[in-house]
Amino acid sequence: MSGSGVVTNETMQPDLAETGAVESTQPPEVKPEPAGRATFRIWRGDRQGGKLVDYTTKVSPGMVVLDAVHQIQAEQANDLAVRWNCKAGKCGSCSAEVNGSPKLMCMTRLSELRLEEPVTVEPMRAFPPIRDLVTDVSWNFQVKQRIKKFKPRSPDAPDGTWRMAQSDIDRVQEFRKCIECYLCQDVCHVLRDHHLHQSFIGPRFLVHVAALEMHPLDVEDRIEELRQAHGIGYCNITKCCTKVCPEHITITDNAIIPLKERVVDEFFDPLGKLIKIFSRKSPGNS
Ligand code: SF4
Ligand code: SF4
Ligand code: FES
Repeated sequence: MSGSGVVTNETMQPDLAETGAVESTQPPEVKPEPAGRATFRIWRGDRQGGKLVDYTTKVSPGMVVLDAVHQIQAEQANDLAVRWNCKAGKCGSCSAEVNGSPKLMCMTRLSELRLEEPVTVEPMRAFPPIRDLVTDVSWNFQVKQRIKKFKPRSPDAPDGTWRMAQSDIDRVQEFRKCIECYLCQDVCHVLRDHHLHQSFIGPRFLVHVAALEMHPLDVEDRIEELRQAHGIGYCNITKCCTKVCPEHITITDNAIIPLKERVVDEFFDPLGKLIKIFSRKSPGNS
């Protein structure tokens, strides 16, 4: 419909005759499956240092980057170190940087990449290398230990059970999809470029805190830690973490921003603090 005064998408489209463009009769581009040979420029080294080494190998339809790395390991570089487990995007082990982007190697199809040029495969840069594509991610395990554990309120019923609204459960369910691949930690400039591992827990663990803080049964208070020890103020909401998450968790909008709001309410809004004391952690509220 395009009556007077109404501007629709249809009316906003430039006329092809006006622009001089020719209407495309071509079908949508279908990316060709890989065939022939391709070169993979893989980082080889350890904590002391390393360098990129080129390996050319056969590629075939359906292959992912991890397949190519395994093939190179089997045929040309038996000592190439690579961590993987499920090959299904679920264990979070095969994280690396493919052409400079944090990716799960098992979920990155060769058909998505330009194989005319060497494909670079490097370890995550936010963590120390152990060997080749394997990084030491143990810092993440230590961070998790520092976060206050789940602390449920007293049971709601004499039989020791609780009552929760489905909508409250739905809110935290998204955060439980995390596979701890640490790609979000890798891309975050606070860790990757500024190396503030001692002051900032990173997006993965802000998601973890959000899952606990927004849980309808949890009565623990982690707001003081969020502001101080966990360093939430270092996040400037660039959303890079959200863009790389293979589980499509809306890290920034759904986890970090609500946590930042809670910190502001607690420390900079006396009225909000009062409301929180009387309502947020009482039974039935989250
Ligand atoms: S939004 Fe925050 S946590 Fe995510 S990458 Fe940017 S600075 Fe890091
Ligand atoms: S939040 Fe996403 S990117 Fe970050 S560790 Fe979990 S699954 Fe990986
Ligand atoms: S091997 Fe498990 S996520 Fe890639």
